[in-house]
Amino acid sequence: MTLKTIMEGTTEVSVPVPPRDAAFPPSAAPVFYNPEMELNRDINVAATAAFVDRLLGKRDMQREEVRYVDAFSASGIRGLRVAGEVGIHATLNDWSQEAFELIQQNIKLNGLEEKAEGCRKNANVLLHEQRFHIVDIDPFGTPSPFLDAASSSVMNLLSVTATDTAPLCGAHLNSGIRKYAAVPLNTEFHSEMGMRVLLGACARELAKHEKSMDPLLSHVTRHYVRSYLAVRQGAKQADRTLKSVGFLAHCPKCGFRQPVEGLAVHIDRECPVCGAGTNIAGPLWLGPLREPAFCNEVLVEMEKRPLRTKEKAMKIISFCRDELDIPMFYDQHVICKELGVSATGIEGFLEALRANGFEASRTHFSGTSFKTDATLPEIKEIIRSL
Ligand SMILES: C[S@@+](CC[C@H](N)C(=O)[O-])C[C@H]1O[C@@H](n2cnc3c(N)ncnc32)[C@H](O)[C@@H]1O
Ligand SMILES: [Zn+2]
Repeated sequence: MTLKTIMEGTTEVSVPVPPRDAAFPPSAAPVFYNPEMELNRDINVAATAAFVDRLLGKRDMQREEVRYVDAFSASGIRGLRVAGEVGIHATLNDWSQEAFELIQQNIKLNGLEEKAEGCRKNANVLLHEQRFHIVDIDPFGTPSPFLDAASSSVMNLLSVTATDTAPLCGAHLNSGIRKYAAVPLNTEFHSEMGMRVLLGACARELAKHEKSMDPLLSHVTRHYVRSYLAVRQGAKQADRTLKSVGFLAHCPKCGFRQPVEGLAVHIDRECPVCGAGTNIAGPLWLGPLREPAFCNEVLVEMEKRPLRTKEKAMKIISFCRDELDIPMFYDQHVICKELGVSATGIEGFLEALRANGFEASRTHFSGTSFKTDATLPEIKEIIRSL
């Protein structure tokens, strides 16, 4: 394997040189490295740092005693960055021999022998054997086969990436149902649907282990979902978490949508606006996707660090912070198209919603998406009046 050294944040890592063939995917390399995930890792460094500050503020504990596991480590880059740039202890695990050897080499390259250790196990075995304050799962595709073990291991923060957006969003419907035991809906808000399917599955897995979750930060980009979930132990806490799991009724004819909390609930199949039959999605996470104060703490961490993706990452986090806590977002262009009117600038449109006494925000999901407490008929009336 021919190697080259790259730098992300303040961490140097040896990674395989990809062939010149543009069609060669990172997953075909002897050890995986995807430069496109630098944004994900930059946010991870800042979010983990912000979380560790909270943890140390509450406990009599040294920074080096905080244990983080990068359970699918490949070159080791994610965990190495956490060890070097956040200063906590990181276990870098990968079941591949080639990855394990590269991890050992990369630990030495950064002089992190004290703060990082390599491990070569099936992630499920490691996570069932050991407990970690922070569990990070960043596998190929779906995290679903690892959520049970991750939930068993985690004490304080579960950080999870899912790159199987097609199953999560309903584009590959049966695959999504198999992986997450949930029915998604592939509508204009499919990206938020995917995030809420994933978080619903996390909530149920954690609940099995009598643990609760509070999402601190969650973001979707084109090809993945990433979420940071604060975890607490306790049956009562877990019961509270499950109260935020439920279903979404959606009218395919007029776009009406209604979240319904609870796992065994009555849901009207008739749309109260137009009388058409609704579709039901779920179980889904219906609670908040992030904590605004935490987003601010992440922004402070980002500001003071040398991160190549800083500008884009800070924009995503600011948008996440300012999003209303309402499932699901609307798409301005979809509604305008239905009404046969051309779309105005989104900021002016949101101002008009606010001027009519409604709450309104943009979202990080797309440039034309927004959230509001106005009903769809109210939104349409305002669009027509512009
Ligand atoms: C998507 S890559 C990880 C990328 C890495 N976290 C990063 O940020 O660059 C997934 C890695 O998981 C490893 N892997 C897949 N299944 C595994 C399992 N069950 N246990 C441990 N490692 C596994 C693969 O060898 C591969 O290196
Ligand atoms: Zn309807």
